[in-house]
Amino acid sequence: MTESPTAVLTLDGAGTDANWWRQAAVYQIYPRSFNDANNDGLGDIKGITAKVPYLRELGLDAVWLSPFYPSELADGGYDVADYRNVDPKLGTLADFDEMAAALHAAGLKIIVDIVPNHSSDQHAWFQEALAAEKGSAARARYIFRDGTGENGELPPSDWGSIFGGPAWTQVADGQWYLHLFASEQPDFNWDNREIRDDFLKTLRFWSDRGVDGFRIDVAHALSKDLSEPLPNKAGLQRLEKLHNGSNPLWDRDQVHEIYAEWRALFNEYTPPRTAVAEAWVDQSRRARYASPTSLGQAFNFDLLMADFEAASFASIVTKNLAEANATGASSTWVFSNHDVVRHATRYGLPALAAADNAEDGKTQDGKAWLLAGGDESALDRELGLRRARAATLFMLGLPGSAYLYQGEELGLHEVAQIADADRQDPAFFRNKGIEVGRDGCRVPLPWTATDTSFGFGEATAHLPQPAWFADAAVSVQDTAADSTLNLYRKALELRRHLQGAEQLDWVENANPDVLHFARPDGWNVVTNFGATAVELPAGTVALSSVPLVDGKLPAAATAWLV
Ligand code: NOJ
Repeated sequence: MTESPTAVLTLDGAGTDANWWRQAAVYQIYPRSFNDANNDGLGDIKGITAKVPYLRELGLDAVWLSPFYPSELADGGYDVADYRNVDPKLGTLADFDEMAAALHAAGLKIIVDIVPNHSSDQHAWFQEALAAEKGSAARARYIFRDGTGENGELPPSDWGSIFGGPAWTQVADGQWYLHLFASEQPDFNWDNREIRDDFLKTLRFWSDRGVDGFRIDVAHALSKDLSEPLPNKAGLQRLEKLHNGSNPLWDRDQVHEIYAEWRALFNEYTPPRTAVAEAWVDQSRRARYASPTSLGQAFNFDLLMADFEAASFASIVTKNLAEANATGASSTWVFSNHDVVRHATRYGLPALAAADNAEDGKTQDGKAWLLAGGDESALDRELGLRRARAATLFMLGLPGSAYLYQGEELGLHEVAQIADADRQDPAFFRNKGIEVGRDGCRVPLPWTATDTSFGFGEATAHLPQPAWFADAAVSVQDTAADSTLNLYRKALELRRHLQGAEQLDWVENANPDVLHFARPDGWNVVTNFGATAVELPAGTVALSSVPLVDGKLPAAATAWLV
């Protein structure tokens, strides 16, 4: 294996390059499950600081922290009680500053999660709203309505929450409030200027503390048209299908007026603060969020929803690069995050029959398998990991930013076996019998093979870790040349050297199971999605997701050639 870097990009953690995000490798940290420095079973900010050398060695450009703000953890921190503070369970603002300085010193940018659609029901403003009267200014910060039925005993509409159950909850004086997610997550009223100003204050607060960018939670839900009469659920769903901004709850054009204000604030900084939208919108509408006058970048979850299959990967890449080109943003790629079944596991499950896929256009997302008990005999762990490594190497070769989720660099599988009593996800509690939720991808990382909580801390981890975590531990993989950890390290290091212009050319290949693309400066990426080994084109193999066999690229594998 020959490594032949062609150019070296410099690290610029605290620097001024306004384009640092365009092709960044961003690593998502789920703080409560990353590393536990104070040994209470919950990951914390000091735990992250202690692992900066690990993050640095991995070869990242930035880390994105899921919420670390004060929270009752009704939704793993996405229920924020105070937007400008650190959860005392996780540390202090001083700890945050220390972590930010350490990350910047190591050349890493910091992205934090902003949750603007809803707060926690423990937020001072919601508590004030509960204590206040109907029609008061305090209630106008949220979405309160009178009920229907003879005595207002029925909710204002029949809408369901994303996590199951109704989207309205009644309060003591009979009014109802809207929550698109759990009842502990009341939706803000974004028509209220006070809310807009408060979020500007929050964005400035973190930007002034050196935060480089923001990930915007449910970015497509802030603007709502709640004029009466409210449509019923069926009406909502019909409108949803129009994909033209006419749905009263989701993806309305007016949301970009909010982001235009945010953009003006971001651009006051040097370099401008960045933002990436989490917006599950129709592909035709994603560009609005990625526009330079709006958030500037938007997640595309297309690869995450696709099967490991050449034709789908090719069309997704082509479509998204064209879109990025048109908006001026760079594309985003992601296979795993804290909301989905880990990709090593998804790829190890039998593909769903075409008929099962038809309904929502989604392929095997692993949820049905989890719900049915996560039967080990249905999961081919080895194949799943092998495909995941190939897919990741494919993705790290693409122009654009790559978002990685903690633990995928260890090739972690989903933890399917979690006792009901240990589960934390509101999707499990509110959706009982329909899904088990997302705890299986949020189990604390294994750092060592033998210690208490596999080196996560000295206490039992807040979500139980399975025995098989020992084999995946960082300490085990660190020195194993062929480990997934070392594959990620090598890939990220090489990528830094090879990454040039945001360009890609497809190179024709007669085999429909093979994708081959070339980046400028002679970097070629070849992925074999099929079941038999294939010849590689001429070139020096700089890296491959599994060893070549007789010079050929085996099944479910990717090679980088230079
Ligand atoms: C999207 C986040 O990724 C998810 O974890 C959360 O539950 C919802 N938004 C609600 O905030």
